[in-house]
This record gives sequence, structure tokens and C-alpha cells, in this order.
Amino acid sequence: MERDKSPGNRQDLSSESLQLLVDSALDGIVTMDAYGRIIAFNPAAEKIFGYGRSEVIGQLVSKKLIPPKGRAAHDKGLKHFLTTGEKKIIGRRIELEAMRAGGSTFPAEIAVISVSPGKEPVFIAYIRDISDRKEWAEERIEYAENIKRTLLQTLLAVSKTVEIRDPYTAGHQRRVAHLAASIARVMGLSDEEVEGIFLGALIHDIGKIAVPSDILSRPGELRDEDASYLKIHCHKGYEILKPVDFPWPIAEIALQHHEHLDGSGYPQGLQGSEILPEARIVCIADVVDAMTSHRPYRPAISLQEALTSLSAKAGRWYDRDAVEACIELFEEGYRIDAANLEELAWLISPK
Ligand SMILES: [Fe+2]
Repeated sequence: MERDKSPGNRQDLSSESLQLLVDSALDGIVTMDAYGRIIAFNPAAEKIFGYGRSEVIGQLVSKKLIPPKGRAAHDKGLKHFLTTGEKKIIGRRIELEAMRAGGSTFPAEIAVISVSPGKEPVFIAYIRDISDRKEWAEERIEYAENIKRTLLQTLLAVSKTVEIRDPYTAGHQRRVAHLAASIARVMGLSDEEVEGIFLGALIHDIGKIAVPSDILSRPGELRDEDASYLKIHCHKGYEILKPVDFPWPIAEIALQHHEHLDGSGYPQGLQGSEILPEARIVCIADVVDAMTSHRPYRPAISLQEALTSLSAKAGRWYDRDAVEACIELFEEGYRIDAANLEELAWLISPK
């Protein structure tokens, strides 16, 4: 049978369907007049806000459904639209705090449209209670935080394992991690890069686990064969870390932290941009901490001497920007022996 398309019939059908649509909608639908008064309130809105229809019709939206701290902004927004016609919120989906009967608040997603059936506009708001979604998002953030914290604690534990075998370098990797991350921050690297540098530096000497402990702790001048044994720690560290799917170049940092820009470093003799920026920064921090710490085969030198030595080789062995950032840090009072991992707690907060 042909459908009757006359305006009168279509109008009747639309009103009925529209009413059904509004009454059965899962979203709260609240209609407000140009004076901010509620003129329609569907069953879902009754459920969300905890008011019966008769309790809110004719009442101000701002008094009934908006918590006190949001009322001024609501009134201002309505006034602004009525005087300028500028749609700041209208037609967009926004999240804000709404208020139930009894005064408790909840996060809501709201989309407002304006229609003009007569002289004055009428506003229809589609409202969704997103408490569950917000709670779920918060749980995910907490979960991600826990995973990161556990990762950091695991790497600290691994870092300590290496240092138990090599007591002369106790705390070395932690100090290098702190200094390298601080240099990277001065250089303006992204949070993610700083994070990778910090974690990579924390275990950059993990390969020393493969170096016989009598070589690590033997006093006196380092013999040639001992030096070449020491050098294998870069490759060993890389072998240990490569299978781990880190989102940062942790294995490469372990492999490249003794490379020099002019190719005179080890183990691969990489040059210039072949060396990762992360590894160049860890290299600087490693050199400063190593030079200023006592080792069984040589005494410590002063910080000033270490920085002078770095400067002398900036651009030739060491990344010039990283050296400058390192010197700037110490000039501003950075103390390598006061490195406090707690200060870097921001590292474990997910972005
Ligand atoms: Fe090393």
C-alpha cells in the first residue's frame, strides 16, 4: 500500500515517533527554554538525575542539574549565545560535572543542540552518565602506573645484581641514570626519550656480569687482557637486553655507551650520527661518574678536572650539546652524590 505523504499525516506520525524515541532513549534528554527553565524531561533523565518529571518542569536547569561551581559558567554561556548567537558549546559533545537530586555530582557527557520552533530558541541536551567509563579509565591509568613502577623496580634490582659483583661501582648505574636523565632534560628531549635514557642508563653495565669478578676488583693498573675483558661488557649487555621488547633503545644504550664520535671508542668504533643520541648522553654521565669515583686501578679525580677533560674532547669524542648541558647542570649546583631517584618519580606516571 502506498504510504500517505501528505503533510498532515506525516506530522502526526512524526510526533508519535518522536515521543516514543524520546521516552525510550537510553540517554537523558532535557529540554530547556531561553530562560534556562526545564520544559521537558524524559524517563532516562529521571533515572540519571533521580528527579520525577513533575519535580523539575519549570525549574531552572542551573539550580536543579548543575553543581554550584558550574552555575555561573552555564548562565554566562546561555547569555552569550542569546546575545551573540555564537555556538561555543552547542553542537559539540562535552564532558562536565552534573548534579543529582540530593546534591551528589557525577561526570556526564553532554551534547546540546538549539532549535527555534517559535520566536525564541529551545535547547535540547542529550546527557549520558559516564561514571563507569571514568572509573574504568582511572583503573587503566592505575594499572599502567603499577606496571611502570614494577618495571622500574625490576631494573633497579637487576642494576643491584651487577653492582654486588662489582662493589667498587656500587651506585654507579643509579648515579649515571640520574645524571643522564637530568642532562637529557636540560637538552629539551621529550619525556619519553628521557625515560628511555634513565632506564637504559640504570642497566647500561649489565654485561659486566660476564666479566670475571677478580678483574672487576683487582687493584693496580689495568692490564691489557683485563681491559679487553672489560670491553666485552657492551656486547654482553646487548645480548642480554636485545630479546626484551622495550619501547626504548635500552639494548643499544648498553652496546654503544663507550663509543666516541671520531670512531675511537668501542666495541664497534661507530662514528658521529651512527651513535644513538641516547647512548651519547649516557656516555657523558658515565664518564663523569667514573672519573670522579675511585676505581681499584686508578684514583678519583675532582669534578672540575673531569668537566675540563670532557670539554677538551667535546665534539671529538663526546656530543658537544650533551657536554654543555652537563656542565650547565653542575654550574647550577647539581651534585652527583646527592642523586635522588625519588625526584624522578614523574618517570613512572603514564602520559
Ligand atoms: Fe660501561
